[in-house]
Amino acid sequence: MSRKIRIGALISGGGTNLQAIIDSCESGKISGEMVFVGTDNPAAMGLKRAEKHKIPSFIVDYPHIIRSVNRHPEPANLPEDFSLDEIMQKQSIFSSENDPETIKKFLRSRAAAEAELLKNMTPFPFDLLVLAGFLRNLTPYFIDRVNKDSMHPRIMNIHPALLPSFPGVDGYGDTFRYGCKVGGCTVHFIDYGEDSGPIIGQKAFPIEPDDTLDSMKKKGLEAEWKLYPECIQLFAENRLHVETVSFPGARKKPYCRNIVLIR
Ligand code: GAR
Repeated sequence: MSRKIRIGALISGGGTNLQAIIDSCESGKISGEMVFVGTDNPAAMGLKRAEKHKIPSFIVDYPHIIRSVNRHPEPANLPEDFSLDEIMQKQSIFSSENDPETIKKFLRSRAAAEAELLKNMTPFPFDLLVLAGFLRNLTPYFIDRVNKDSMHPRIMNIHPALLPSFPGVDGYGDTFRYGCKVGGCTVHFIDYGEDSGPIIGQKAFPIEPDDTLDSMKKKGLEAEWKLYPECIQLFAENRLHVETVSFPGARKKPYCRNIVLIR
């Protein structure tokens, strides 16, 4: 018998994954309950879904916060516990080829928005945070304040591609335009990179010659609505264990990464 977990969700748009998760909680497919829904988009359809199910919700005005921090990046306008050096060192969203000033600007403004997210989440203790079409990169500032222990991550994301292929903003589009014959979706824990964290589950589907990008996305979303609840239920059953594995001879450099073992 698994415990009932408290789930928080962040969304940016339609919220069909959110709906699948809420429905799975209500039908008992997930031993859990949705305790809040947060968004960066006041027009997100998912807010209406939350309201219908009497789930508390909040909006964080990312564009406003980003503009005001970019205009006034002084420490007084940043979270008190924010250390730019620390976040710069930890993050792997950007590579060393990116302009350091652009990276700093990004990290400062996003951390300010994330502090607002955290403030809004405080009244709602949760076990797991699910990103359900939340279209913002989260920085180590936010991640470290949710994950007290990196070996027990508790932020999940669903990505519209078979990672590690096609990370980024348009997974299905990138898969389709590449001419792939198989598409898919991936649920993974968040780490400090972009769509690079340990993989929990994946579902694949064929891309047929008569598929369009739209028909392919439809197949993809249907796969997502099954996959995400399944992965959340594994978390609720405490069956997801992160382990660091290294394969000394596998690459020129020793290859070492955190992977999820399902027990
Ligand atoms: C889903 O396809 C999800 O995989 C994708 O956004 C869509 C949200 O749909 N997420 C990302 O691209 C994250 N990088 P929904 O709002 O209907 O759940």
